[in-house]
Amino acid sequence: MNLHESEKIAGILTDLGYTATDSELNADIIVFNTCCIRENAEDRAEGNIGALKKLKKQNKNVIIAVGGCMTQQPNSAQKLHEKFPFIDIIFGTHNLERFKELLEAKLKQKKTLICVDEKEGEIIEGTPKNRTSYPNAWVNITYGCNNFCTYCIVPYVRGRERSRKIENIVKECRELVAQGYKEITLLGQNVNSYGNDLQDTDFAKLIKEVSSIEGDFRLRFMTNHPKDFNENLIKAISESNKVCRSVHLPVQAGSNRILKLMNRKYTREDYIDKIKLLRKYIPDVAITTDIMVGFPTETEEDFEDTVNLVKEVGFSGAFTFIYSKRSGTPAAKMDGQVEEEVSKRRIMKLIDIQNSINRKQSETYQNATIEILCEDYDEKKKMYLGRDTYGRMAYFSSLENLIGKFVNVKITKTGGISLIGEIV
Ligand code: 5AD
Ligand code: SF4
Repeated sequence: MNLHESEKIAGILTDLGYTATDSELNADIIVFNTCCIRENAEDRAEGNIGALKKLKKQNKNVIIAVGGCMTQQPNSAQKLHEKFPFIDIIFGTHNLERFKELLEAKLKQKKTLICVDEKEGEIIEGTPKNRTSYPNAWVNITYGCNNFCTYCIVPYVRGRERSRKIENIVKECRELVAQGYKEITLLGQNVNSYGNDLQDTDFAKLIKEVSSIEGDFRLRFMTNHPKDFNENLIKAISESNKVCRSVHLPVQAGSNRILKLMNRKYTREDYIDKIKLLRKYIPDVAITTDIMVGFPTETEEDFEDTVNLVKEVGFSGAFTFIYSKRSGTPAAKMDGQVEEEVSKRRIMKLIDIQNSINRKQSETYQNATIEILCEDYDEKKKMYLGRDTYGRMAYFSSLENLIGKFVNVKITKTGGISLIGEIV
C-alpha cells in the first residue's frame, strides 16, 4: 500500500518535471512517505527526518515534505512540526493525491504548510504513477477500512472504506497488461469487502472481470479478511486461470479469547473451516498469514493455541509481529499489556516453527520444474530471481536479462526457504 503511494508521489513529481536522484545531497525535494502501523516504523521515520536537519542548514532551498499515515494521526502533524521545524510540507493520507497543489502552494509561502484533512475525500482517479516494481504492478481497489480491529491504527488514519469503480480498475489493469506488466496485485486493507459501498459489485465479480483481460499475466491480491473470505470468492479464484495459487489470509491469533478481544469477528474454528473450503476447491493452494504475539492479556495457553494453529494449517509463509501499542486504539487502553521479553520469546518460537515448516515445504521442490516469473537480478548472488504461482522464490543463472519473462526452472538445491535451480 505505502509502496504504491510512493509511486504516486513520484509520478506527481515527474509530471512537474522533477527527476529521481540517488543522493539527498543533489535533491531539490525530499518526500517521506511514513507508516504508523507499528511503533518501530514511526521511530525509523523520525530518525530519518531528524538526520536531514544538517542538510537543510547547508541548503535552505531543498524542500522537505512528510506525508503518509503517521502525519494523519491526531495532533501528530503539529508535534512533528514542533520537533522538526525545518520540514516544509506536512500532509496526511487524505491529501496525497493533491500533492501537486500542496507543493505549488508551498512554493508561494515561506512558513511550513500543514495540510491534514480530518475526513477522507472522494476517490481521485488518474493520479500519475512512477511504477518501480516491473513486472509487477500495484492497483488500488479500495481505500480505508471499516473493521476496527482493536489493535489497529489503520481505520483512524485511512478513513472509511471506499471502493473504486469496477470499470476504472479494469481499465487500469487492461492498460497495464498492454504495457507489458506480467503480474497485477490488487490492493486494499480488506479486498474481500470490495464493492460493499457500490451497487451489484463484489470482489468475486472483480476477479472474474480482471481475469478475462486477454494476455499473459498473473493476478494476486492483498490483503484478505477471514470473516469476508467466502465460498463465492473461493470459486471465482479457483475458476480463474490468472489468479495465482496463493492466498494471504491473516489469522493474527489462534486463541478464541484473543480473537474476540481483537474484534476479528471469527473464531479459530471458522478460520480452519475457511482453509478447508479453500483447499477443497484448490487442493494445492499455498496459504500465507500474518500473526501477532503479545496482544494484551495473551497467556502462555493463548500463545500455544497460536502455535498449534500454525502447525495444523501448515502455512507457506507467515509475517510475524510483536503487538505494538498504538495510541487511540481500544487495545492501548486494555489492562494486561505483555512484557517485551515475553513477546520476544514467543515470536522467536513462532519464527522457528514456521521456518522449519518452510524448509520442509522447500524440500518437496527438489528436482521439480516450475514456472517462474523472473522479477529481478540479485547483484550479490549474481543470479536472477522470481516466484512461482505459489509465491515460492527461486534463483537461477542466465546470461540473458529475463526480467519480465516466464521461465521454466528445474530446482537443484533446496537448502533454505528460497530455491536454486537452472533454466530448462
Ligand atoms: N501491532 C503489531 N502488529 C500490527 N499489525 C497491525 N497493527 C499492529 C499493531 N498494533 C499487523 C497485523 C496486520 C499487519 C499488516 O500488521 O498482523 O495484519
Ligand atoms: Fe487494521 Fe483490521 Fe482493518 Fe486490517 S482489517 S487494516 S488489521 S482494522
